[in-house]
Order: sequence, then C-alpha cells, then structure tokens
Amino acid sequence: MARKGRKGTAARASAKRREAAPHAAEARIVPTLSGLLAEKRVYKPSAAFRRQANCNDAKVYERAARNLEKFWGEWARKLEWFKPPKKVREWKAPFAKWFADGKLNVSVNCLDRHVKTARRNKAALVWEGEPGDRRTYTYWELWREVNQFANVLKRLGVRKGDRVAIYLPMIPEAAIAMLACARLGAIHSVVFGGFSAESLKDRINDARAKLLITADGGYRRGNLLPLKQYADEALAHCPTIENVVVVKRGGAEFPVHIREGRDHWWHRLMQDAGGWCEPAAVNSEDLLFILYTSGTTGKPKGIVHSTAGYLIGVLATTAWVFDLKEDDLFWCTADIGWVTGHSYTVYGPLALGATTLMYEGAPDWPARDRFWDICERHGVTVFYTAPTAIRAFMKWGAEHIGKHDLSRLRLIGTVGEPINPEVWVWYQQTVGGGRCPVVDTWWQTETGHILITPLPGLTALKPGSATRPFPGVSADVVDAEGRRVDPEASGGGGYLVLTRPYPGMLRGIWGDPERYKQEYWSRYPGLYFTGDGAKRDEDGYFWLLGRVDDVLNVAGHRIGTAEVESELVDHKAVAEAAVVGIPHELKGEAIAAFVTLKDGHGASDPVELMDELKEHVVRKIGAISRPDRILFAADLPKTRSGKIMRRLLRDVATGRALGDTTTLADPSVIESLKARYAEE
Ligand code: PRX
Repeated sequence: MARKGRKGTAARASAKRREAAPHAAEARIVPTLSGLLAEKRVYKPSAAFRRQANCNDAKVYERAARNLEKFWGEWARKLEWFKPPKKVREWKAPFAKWFADGKLNVSVNCLDRHVKTARRNKAALVWEGEPGDRRTYTYWELWREVNQFANVLKRLGVRKGDRVAIYLPMIPEAAIAMLACARLGAIHSVVFGGFSAESLKDRINDARAKLLITADGGYRRGNLLPLKQYADEALAHCPTIENVVVVKRGGAEFPVHIREGRDHWWHRLMQDAGGWCEPAAVNSEDLLFILYTSGTTGKPKGIVHSTAGYLIGVLATTAWVFDLKEDDLFWCTADIGWVTGHSYTVYGPLALGATTLMYEGAPDWPARDRFWDICERHGVTVFYTAPTAIRAFMKWGAEHIGKHDLSRLRLIGTVGEPINPEVWVWYQQTVGGGRCPVVDTWWQTETGHILITPLPGLTALKPGSATRPFPGVSADVVDAEGRRVDPEASGGGGYLVLTRPYPGMLRGIWGDPERYKQEYWSRYPGLYFTGDGAKRDEDGYFWLLGRVDDVLNVAGHRIGTAEVESELVDHKAVAEAAVVGIPHELKGEAIAAFVTLKDGHGASDPVELMDELKEHVVRKIGAISRPDRILFAADLPKTRSGKIMRRLLRDVATGRALGDTTTLADPSVIESLKARYAEE
C-alpha cells in the first residue's frame, strides 16, 4: 500500500481504485479486528437504512405475538388465490394446517402475477455459468419457459401429486423445472448434484418418483461432472422412473448415453411445446416439494413442505430479512439442491418479484476473486452465503475482495452454521465495507424459511448472534427436562425448541409419520425439538451453539453420523464404525471415523485402506461426506449393554481429557485408543 503523502504511481493507482471502489479502502481496516471484537460493539442500523427498510416498525413483534393469525393472514392476502382462504391456522399438535381451505398455484404467484405488471420485462433470473457463459431471463421469458416445460412434463405423463426427481447442476433449467412441477401440482424432489448415484437412487426410490430431470454434466473447477452417467447407474435400480429429461450442458463432444424411449433431450422436447399451460388449482396443504436431509438414523428423511404455508413463509422472510426492493439484485450462493437454494434463490425472491442471481461453479474458479468479480459485474446489492465460505475468503485474504468495486452491496447475510464473532466482524468490514448490516439467519430444511434473524432496519446486531425470532415465531431454550433455562443463570445454555407453529413448518416425513413424531416431538411434549444447542443472553438474543444430536455440520452440510457409519460397515473389511465430528478451521466441523476391521482384513498397508474407505464413502454418499480422519481400532469403547460411547470418542478425537468412563465395559479400550490417536 502506498504511504500517506507520496505522490508516486502506486499512490495514484490506489487513489484511482478507491474512487472506483469506494469501500475497497475500508477493507484495509481489518487489522483492527481484535479491537472491534474487544469493544463488544453492538451494530445499530443507520438512520438511512432504517428509513428505507421494508420493515422498520418495532411494534411488529408485539402485534404478531398478540394476533398470530392476523399477522400471517395479512401476508397471505399479498398472494393471488384461485380460492382465497377463510381459515388461517389449524393446530392439532404436532400437525399444523395453514390456510387449509384456500387454492392457489406457486408458479402463478412467482411468475404470472408479475407478468401482468410492469415487472414483465424486469430480470427475474440472472445466471452465470462457471466457464463464464451468461443468461438473463426476464419475468416474461421465465414464465414462457416454465409454461413450455410444464407442457413437456404433462406430455410425458406427469400429473398433480406425482413425484419428479431433479438432479441438475446450478443452471436455469433447475429453477424452470421446479416451477414447472409447481405449475402442474407435481411434487419435486431436488437431489444435490454432488450426491452419488447411490444417494440419488435411494431418494428416487423412497419418493417413488416417476420422472427424472438431469443434465449430461455440470461444471466444477473447470471439469464437467458426468451427472447423466451417475444417473444411469442409479436408474438401473429405479423401477418407478418412466422418463428422463436430459439438459445438454456439455459441448457436443461430451459423451452421454441416451436410452431410446426413456431418455429425451430437454431442448428437443421444448421445440414443440406450447407457451401456455393451464396452472393447476392446488390446495394450500398439498405438497410442493420433498427435500431429503440427514437425521439421526442411517436413512435420510424426506422432509415435506406444503404449498401455501411455505410460500407465505418465504415471501415474508425474503421481504423483511433481505429487505429486497424493485432494483435490488439478490445473490444467495447456496446450491439449489439444499433448502436455502429452494427458498432464497427460487421461491422467495420470485414470489416477491425481485431479481435473483444464480452461479454454477466454485468460488475459487478460475481465481479466488470469482464471487467478487460476479458481484461487481452484475451489481449485486444483497448477498447471502455460509460461514464456511466466509472463513475461506478470510483465509484467502482481503486482497481478492479489494480488487473489486463492491460499493453496490447494501446488505449481507449468512446461514447454515454458527458464525464466530471474529468471522462476522471480518465479513461486515471487508465484504460489507463496514456499512452493510449482516443478517445471521437461523433455520433448517424442516422450517422451510428463516426463523431466528435480525430485521436489518430494526435490530441492533451482535456479532455471532442470530438475534431474535422473526415476528410471529416463538423459540425457547430448555434444559434436558424441558424446563425453560433462565438466561441470567449459568450462561443460559440449553436446547433450542420452537413453541408455536409457523406457516412453513414441515408437514412431516415422506412416508413415515411415526418418525416425524419421534424425531421432533417426542423429546418434549408439545415442543418442536430442533436438534440445536443455544443460549439466550440478557437481551433475549439467541446464540446458536451447533447440533446436539448425532448430526454433523460439515461446511454447512448436514451429515448424519449413522449414514457414514452404515456405509463404512458396508465395506468388506470393516466390522464396526463410529463417526464423530472434530473442529475444523474452515469447514467448522470435519468427520473422524473410528473403525474396527474384520478378522483377516488387518491391512498390510493401512494408509491405502484408509484412502479406500474414504473413497468408498464418497462413492456411496458423495464428496461432502468424505471422512477427514480414519483411525483403526482393535475395539470401540462400549457400555456394558453394548452401546458405543461416542462422547468418549469425541474426547479422543479432539484431544480433550476423557469424560466419565465409569460406565465402560472395558476401560482399557479407550486408553489404548487415546494413545494411538495421539501418535497419529
Ligand atoms: O444446526 C443448525 C445449522 O444448520 C442446521 C440446519 O441444517 P439444514 O437443514 O441443512 O439447513 C441449513 C440452511 C437453513 C441447523 O439445525 N444452522 C443453520 N443456520 C444457522 C445454523 N447454526 C447456527 N447459526 C445459523 N445461522
């Protein structure tokens, strides 16, 4: 950096850059991070932000709490209905219905409603592919594509209530496919493109999907991932799939197998599809989608979301949390295969008539400033990403950000994991230029939309806290017996529960109502158990502490320890496996697996076997589940009744002092493990 007062070329260049990028200079404040943290500063919204905010009336909290039905009913009136609902909520714990006597269509609300107004020619979806190709769809164009593709699906026999699996990269066709399903009242089940053939197969079969939409490939770090090839492996075991629609993403030379009669190219089918498809009048409580996520058993659960409640929840939170205006450009960086991509790349912004940006590839391709390059070139104004990504940006260095003019950004957000206060402050200073409010939003696949969050025009922010429940949402922190934890007492920590239903709440687990009751409602009668630890401070702010069940959060991805364990024991050499989470600088948490081998499989080359086991898990589930560490053990620590004591394994893996070992059947097992782990 040029020294003050010097008039050399470097100083002139730097001043020029500052002119072009007003906040690039502010990015250099970062070295004062520890000072900012030590101050325990509370970040109040500026008067200017507050004035322009979509929600700037602090009384909303009280009004919503006093009359929940009126509060959500007012949001419902913003939608277009075939039959407006008279009822708001029916609650027979643990089953909720919202706006149950209404009829509507999600694609009409995301598209037709806007096409009838001045938004007709406004950009709805701005897309950039990893190689740099770009496409922008106006509301009119997106509406046309969705109508055409709905006609394609109809011709291939898709009807209301049918399940359609979507296994696509981050390309516009993913959003078009979702909206086309919604137009017909078909239920989509999007499977993240990073999942393996086996994971895809399990999800297709559980949902009994009739049709699959995939692509020949998708770009990741310059390579084309052969999605269709994975899909073909899955389809060999998916008897319910009748037709496959394949998007051509790779070039003509990219090899792909097309099975005559079953597989159809997207672009060919679209050529003769009509531009108008009558939208189905869907009941409020009919399902919009299934999305699989990890729980505490080896089998992923299909979380089901309804039509009206979900749409109203994402509409309200997109409007108030992201504060979107007509001229904003919103970029939620999540993949469409996760709930964040569903709610805040597709449904929330489009329901609101906003412009949403979608990017196909990696943040460091071809260079580590790709995200900021996208923000600058497209003029992104509201940006939403995960703490894992922010930690990586922080490690890569502020210079990648300083190169770009991010002065258009006015609000930034985070989701998916607890964010450390120092990372929060870095984000606020470096990406947010010290002027953007940061919304740390807590929610889950199950909740459908954001539940604990600042309202950027109202809330004084504390770095590391997701602050307060959204108006109309009610959360609490309880102890193991379900008693409310007093925030003043002993740190105020406990288990996060939700105490009232809200519109987007999951309606159950596909095909397994018992598991729904068991997983969420059995621990504390009448309360929804989130699986998260939390504490509340003296101001009533919530601080999320991570999962307290056997679910890991690796780089913002939810991974059930039981899923990884069952794939490990599926390997011919493995007798038993126990998986625990270990802290990781970038990913938040990483996977450590303790493995005992079958007799006769004592590896001659343990490193080779370790790699083989890691690859086995990747092949079975997907790269997100790759264990970071594998430790071979002669035995695993168990209670006298044979239960593996993961708590002790966690102590071993993190190098902590061992907790209570009195219930162990054989205490020597853990001692030898501890010695081995320390050695490696
Ligand atoms: O542990 C919490 C964490 O992510 C879990 C939900 O994961 P998933 O269903 O994959 O949805 C992620 C995106 C909504 C939660 O149980 N989590 C999510 N947001 C936060 C968070 N932890 C701390 N702070 C957050 N803001």
